[in-house]
Amino acid sequence: MSSNIEAAGSDVFGIESQLSETRLFPPSPAFSGQAHIGSMEQYRTEHARSINDPEGFWGEIAKELHWFKPWDKVLEWDAPDAKWFTGGTTNLSYNCLDRQVKAGRGADTAIIWEGEPVDGANGPEVRHISYAELLEETCKCANALKSLGVAKGDIVTVYMPMVPELAIAMLACARIGAAHSVIFGGFAASAIVDRVVDAKSKVVITADGGWRRGSIVPLKDNVDAACAQTDLVEHVLVVKRTAQDITWDAKRDHWWHDAVDKASDDCPCEEMDSEDLAFVLYTSGTTGKPKGIMHTTGGYMVHTYLTSKLTFDLHSSEPGTPPKQIYWCTADIGWVTGHSYIVYGIMPNCVPTVMYEGAPNFPDSGRFWDMVERHKVTQFYTAPTAIRAFMKWGDEWPQKHDLSSLTVLGTVGEPINPEAWMWYHKMIGAESCPIVDTWWQTETGGQMITPLPGATPTKPGSCTLPFFGVDAAIVNEHGEEMPANTGGLLAIRKPWPGMLRGILGDRERFIETYWSTIRTKEGEPYYKAGDGARRDDDGYFWVMGRIDDVMNISGHRIGTMELESALVSHSAVVEAAVVGVPHEIKGTGIAAFCTLAPGVTADSALRDTLRTHVAKEIGPFAKPDMLRFTDALPKTRSGKIMRRLLKDIASGAEKTGDTTTLEDYSVLAKLKESDEG
Ligand code: WTA
Repeated sequence: MSSNIEAAGSDVFGIESQLSETRLFPPSPAFSGQAHIGSMEQYRTEHARSINDPEGFWGEIAKELHWFKPWDKVLEWDAPDAKWFTGGTTNLSYNCLDRQVKAGRGADTAIIWEGEPVDGANGPEVRHISYAELLEETCKCANALKSLGVAKGDIVTVYMPMVPELAIAMLACARIGAAHSVIFGGFAASAIVDRVVDAKSKVVITADGGWRRGSIVPLKDNVDAACAQTDLVEHVLVVKRTAQDITWDAKRDHWWHDAVDKASDDCPCEEMDSEDLAFVLYTSGTTGKPKGIMHTTGGYMVHTYLTSKLTFDLHSSEPGTPPKQIYWCTADIGWVTGHSYIVYGIMPNCVPTVMYEGAPNFPDSGRFWDMVERHKVTQFYTAPTAIRAFMKWGDEWPQKHDLSSLTVLGTVGEPINPEAWMWYHKMIGAESCPIVDTWWQTETGGQMITPLPGATPTKPGSCTLPFFGVDAAIVNEHGEEMPANTGGLLAIRKPWPGMLRGILGDRERFIETYWSTIRTKEGEPYYKAGDGARRDDDGYFWVMGRIDDVMNISGHRIGTMELESALVSHSAVVEAAVVGVPHEIKGTGIAAFCTLAPGVTADSALRDTLRTHVAKEIGPFAKPDMLRFTDALPKTRSGKIMRRLLKDIASGAEKTGDTTTLEDYSVLAKLKESDEG
């Protein structure tokens, strides 16, 4: 195990400097004075209470939201199965929309949407959508879905650009009790097929295209290609966004502007049992098949609501008055960050949420900072990979803009190296905005380890301390806690409201992946996050990275097996091995080693072909950064590919470590000589 953890550690950009990090950044008294949680004493008291009496703690929070019927019991825990707020009924769409309209916020802004194209002096297209408008659109979409035969319990696949209709589609599904499965728009057709089939989706919602860096992403073409490979899909609802010519199947395809705009705007919410499925979100695991992570309604809602409120210190304004805060998370809704911290956690807090369609460097590298200035963004949440790109693009871009509206900065998705943290702190936060480095996962539903901006003194590179109700620990495989400053497995000991309830259709994999490795002496299973981490002398967590065959590329999770299967699906490739290597911007880059079929010429044209092939099979974000051809792959005597060795070779390491189990030493020599991609 320890070698695994070290391997993960060395994988992560800047980890060595993180571990000797001693700088401490306490929140300013002014910030703490107005914050929900304004001191470490308050944090510690509340945290202790949330751990000792989770039912009392979470029951009180849940009362801040709307329930049609109150719960009988806050928590039923029969490891690994948790049921939260049992017997209670509620609806996510109601808590995002109806509750606000009923409280007199109908005219207040729910979403500030900005499109990517910039039209000369007119600038970009911007829409301020009120709770009342969003409710009306959501009801219409919900009725349109019903007329396409969608009923409670169905799973609707959503493959869309970052347009308001994406949030509307999700809220419409939630409204009628259908679960959604949102697929990131960067995935290719075959990824859509796998997910549609796994979820048995009969209805897909998409758009003709989406804007990305001035080009059109052909979403509808990808859906068409996917539909050609499965006859499951009966209806495709299409938003007109880019207006280029697309192919049309009159029996199957429906324009959003026909089906939705004509539908009735009256659609009462389905009363959802707290444990009814809210959504499925696919994420990469250690096998080639993505996992459909299942999240249910009540617990997820309460967890994302409270973490949004406290981690970003959200304060709504009085109904009918201008907002005090404008919150912006730059993630794509196709990933869990967008689900939880653009839509479901933010809207119940009644603070406007910014949704941006496009790239951070279109039309120039100052786009984000221009948007912060124009929209007067107060809370800004992004990923370390974006911060590293901004650093590279140069200080002049943020310096051109007035960023003084900002009060809290957030990061998520991968470990942040202290250099990037300091740049964010100085250049974007003017040394006066607390930085919340939030550790969590698709599986956890919401943030788990994070500073609270008015309380926690931060250290660059550490996600600091567990959120309320989260009992996190660094343990070995026997569930024994590791001493301070010693690497181990990041594990969670008690259930939390937003936790996954399973993997769609695969109970065994659910238990095997998360609950079978770590147990207490009493046999109680812990949740295994799949990350290696340490705690320092102050109990702060330092996440080092994945310890399984999952890589984190620019904050996007992708399994090495998925990449390897994509490579060998090309006729030129016989065998492939993929490893992560340190990458200046992406955090981790993809290095692929391929052995070729007899007679195939290893040249740069083939390298390009294979890279493009991976982009076509999985999506452009999965293109290998480095691709090497080799006669054979280094294997142990039992036939396992020696990834550690490949990692060292790919990162150009001098020392290749212990190779005594290597089957054929000549393979190693050949790999070292082989031409780099
Ligand atoms: C990594 C994204 C260090 C980690 C919300 C985790 C992080 C995986 C952090 C989940 C962080 C996420 N510091 N590592 N603040 N946040 N990770 O499912 O390896 O896309 O297991 O969820 O990202 O990625 P996922």
